[in-house]
Amino acid sequence: TVVASGLGGMTPTDGAHLAAAAQRVPSVRTELAATFRTALHSAFPAISVEPIVVATNQARHGDYQCNNAMQLFGRMKGKEGAPKKPTDVATAIVDALPASSMIAERPTLAGPGFINVKLSHGWISERIHSMLLQGIGTWAPPFKYKRAVVDFSSPNVAKEMHVGHLRSTIIGDTLARSLEFCGVDTLRINHVGDWGTQFGMLIQHIAETRPGGLEGTTTEEVSDLQKLYKESKARFDADEDFKARARAAVTRLQSGDTEFQETWRRICEASRNEFDAIYQRLGVHILWRGESFYNPVLKSLVEELIERGIAEDSDGAQVVWVPKEKVPLMVRKSDGGFGYGTTDMATLRQRIQDEKAEWLIYVTDEGQAGHFKLVFGAGRRWGTIPEENPPRIDHVGFGLVLGADGKRIRTRDMGAATRLVELLDEAKERCKGTIKERRGDDISAEELDESSSIMGYGAIKYADLKNNRKTDYKFNFDEMLNLNGNTAVYMLYAHARIASIVRKVGKDVNEVAKTAKLSLDHPAEAALGLQVVRFTETLEDMFIDLAPNRLTEYIYELANLFSTFYTECKVAGSENEDSRLLLCEATAIVMRQTLSLLGIKPLYRI
Ligand code: ARG
Repeated sequence: TVVASGLGGMTPTDGAHLAAAAQRVPSVRTELAATFRTALHSAFPAISVEPIVVATNQARHGDYQCNNAMQLFGRMKGKEGAPKKPTDVATAIVDALPASSMIAERPTLAGPGFINVKLSHGWISERIHSMLLQGIGTWAPPFKYKRAVVDFSSPNVAKEMHVGHLRSTIIGDTLARSLEFCGVDTLRINHVGDWGTQFGMLIQHIAETRPGGLEGTTTEEVSDLQKLYKESKARFDADEDFKARARAAVTRLQSGDTEFQETWRRICEASRNEFDAIYQRLGVHILWRGESFYNPVLKSLVEELIERGIAEDSDGAQVVWVPKEKVPLMVRKSDGGFGYGTTDMATLRQRIQDEKAEWLIYVTDEGQAGHFKLVFGAGRRWGTIPEENPPRIDHVGFGLVLGADGKRIRTRDMGAATRLVELLDEAKERCKGTIKERRGDDISAEELDESSSIMGYGAIKYADLKNNRKTDYKFNFDEMLNLNGNTAVYMLYAHARIASIVRKVGKDVNEVAKTAKLSLDHPAEAALGLQVVRFTETLEDMFIDLAPNRLTEYIYELANLFSTFYTECKVAGSENEDSRLLLCEATAIVMRQTLSLLGIKPLYRI
């Protein structure tokens, strides 16, 4: 059966559920590398090297390049019978290439020994055609990891979720979606800051200033909670007596005092409702498992570290030293309390031992890189991260979100305009205006609402994901809503245009796929086809350093190549109509899948 949905059907192909069942097709690069591996082994059996195969983006360098010749030449230099120059090595590799249907013609040499490969158009079109028949799930890279934990978003209770948490939410969601697409069982964890000393001062302050605690508070009162948080913080910093009472309140809370626990529960609930409203708008699913979840194990965890000599005393506190680090990880404060570091030691153990995660990802701002170095280092000393077959563990750090003035947007001085909800609202409203202008009365109120949410929230996500995650970026509505730039809006238009071409042809794409041939005769068709089959290796690249901007770069190039194709090649009514229809559909499927990984729904009409 044909899995690829026709665009007319309005149901986007969902790769995720297909990935598990479908047979995986290796990426083009991986397959080409295998061919070169054979050639390298047969030409130079005495030297073992891994093939270096890269995709190029300039046609004159071929579609791919094999770059092993220089390195091999260096390794053989001075030895008996060694080749005289790197190009001799390259020639020997090319001579040894096994017959392969994917390579169009004998590869050419360039520069000191680069081997330029052109792919066969027939091979590319077959690959695209079989994706149309088998589904995009077959293009998910295979993974050795079966289970992953992605810790992301993780705002703090009673404080408002801010743009930094928004970044964590967007990046983490894309990483989780990508893992899920590859068939990895992925646990999405919201490590909410719902415990610790700040609650002592907050609850103590509430107990002293509000008779009846939070009885009767509604969930709309999170901003009220923030006010209370600020007030209590001010008292905590200024008043020694209050400080002592706040500390005692933590103990009272942690030892299970019912009144305090009830206040704590209400505070959490109010925050949670507010966070959930944002997740719902953004279409993000995540499991609420805050810091308090780990509280029961912290005491014994630290005792174990002390007993085993991993933690040591430092002015009454307990700390774990990590090789090469200048500061230790604090696991117990001198007052006996546990902190952020202790909890993260517990997350490591819980996720590796109980959740059986083979890949742990923590998404926070780059400012916490030091913290995670210490946690992972301490986890290794502890043995929770085993020396043999350790899980893959990544801290995915990101830069700051800056205001238009280039200054950091901070929670503390966040004016009404930059509050998260309002950011989302504004993006949506602006899109509503644009769409209304285009469609006039030719759009229902529901569709307008739905489309402007998709476009507005999509624009915010895309503007975030397209940056190298480690760099700071400026939050700029005009830029992110630009119709012609590297924006979600542009991608959504590109997708809607393909949808309208398919509608115009008016054929059942699935039926066409069963009978018609796809050919890539025109250079614009060939360039687009090549980009389409590069989807899998793009995803592979994204996983190397967990860089979502690889996906946005890919889809941007895809949209541009489509636009060239569309300008130069007539689809409806041309003699190549069927073939071009299939190429349009394949482009749309890959585009939708990429958008889906970015957490953006497609639009079929704008
Ligand atoms: N709540 C923290 C913050 O707002 C982020 C928590 C990240 N996760 C973790 N396991 N430490 O910065």
